[in-house]
Amino acid sequence: MLVLGIETSCDESGIALFDTQRGLLSHHLFSQIDMHRDYGGVVPELASRDHIRRVLPLICQTLHTAGCTMHDVDAIAYTEGPGLAGALLVGASIGAALSFGLNIPALGIHHLEGHLLSPLLSTPAPDFPFIALLVSGGHTQLMRVDGVGQYQLMGETVDDAAGEAFDKTAKLLGLGYPGGAALANLAQHGHSNRFKLPRPMIHSGDLNFSFSGLKTAVLTLINKHEPSSQTRADIASAFQQAVVDVLVEKSLSALSESGLTQLVVAGGVGANQLLRHELSTRAATQGVRVFYPELEFCTDNGAMIAFAGAMRLQALNTQTPPPASGFTVKARWNLEELEKPST
Ligand code: KG4
Ligand code: ZN
Repeated sequence: MLVLGIETSCDESGIALFDTQRGLLSHHLFSQIDMHRDYGGVVPELASRDHIRRVLPLICQTLHTAGCTMHDVDAIAYTEGPGLAGALLVGASIGAALSFGLNIPALGIHHLEGHLLSPLLSTPAPDFPFIALLVSGGHTQLMRVDGVGQYQLMGETVDDAAGEAFDKTAKLLGLGYPGGAALANLAQHGHSNRFKLPRPMIHSGDLNFSFSGLKTAVLTLINKHEPSSQTRADIASAFQQAVVDVLVEKSLSALSESGLTQLVVAGGVGANQLLRHELSTRAATQGVRVFYPELEFCTDNGAMIAFAGAMRLQALNTQTPPPASGFTVKARWNLEELEKPST
């Protein structure tokens, strides 16, 4: 079964072809970061308009790379939410139109389910059940995953997401948008122990997070110290270490609380090398295996959507859903509302 994945939830147009027998055949991405950079963040209307420009050429390119035509595609998977409503509508309407025109099924996929299942695109892949640490620009959650559509929220941020905290702190340090990767690069030149930042909620006794206070603490440091390049690097390093310490601690608590021994890290912040290093080191001492998506599948991409669509279709066995007769998008959508695919 060949599934065409369409991701347009935010500022990346991602298209991919996943075959249930042969795996990922091809994938292409267009990032709008350069366009939004001048504004210091994503401008929703510009994002929607750019998705309109990019999606069809990207689909043609992805088919061409895989040596396929549209008539080889058995199903469409598009991101239905959560995300920017206008941006989501572009992918959903194109997905539904292709489904209707080609008389093949279309599935609306939860963006976070895509992230959550993305480590299964790599080998070795984890088996169900596992704990997932979802750390993206919009979410920070610990989930217990028992299967496709079987997600149980164990803890989440009560304010800013980890990626959002990276982006806002990067802005305070004068780094561009989006700042996560830039801050991580700057932190490499700094000393994490020159400044002491709080580890918010690390001893809260639950699996929730809070990151908004950290950026205020960073702002206080910036206002107090000479903004030399070394100081900026030291602040970046202290900030990164504080976020990583909390993410590692809570992930290990979720593992011991559940008794599970596999941890999956997904979402853009999962690309952070310090987080990967510390998680893997700490996990190894506790007999836990950590699984990461390939770096290119940490941030938004079409492959994770095509893959999630394929997993859902496979779980439906022989019963093929009908072609789209309409479409909907959900700007806000709780992952726990998802259901196990059933025939
Ligand atoms: O998953 P994603 O592409 O988009 C959402 O669904 O939100 O994640 C984007 C987030 C941004 O906040 C970005 O700054 C952050 O991931 N990010 C990083 C790194 N690379 C991307 N944060 C920390 N370290 C990185 N290396
Ligand atoms: Zn994402």
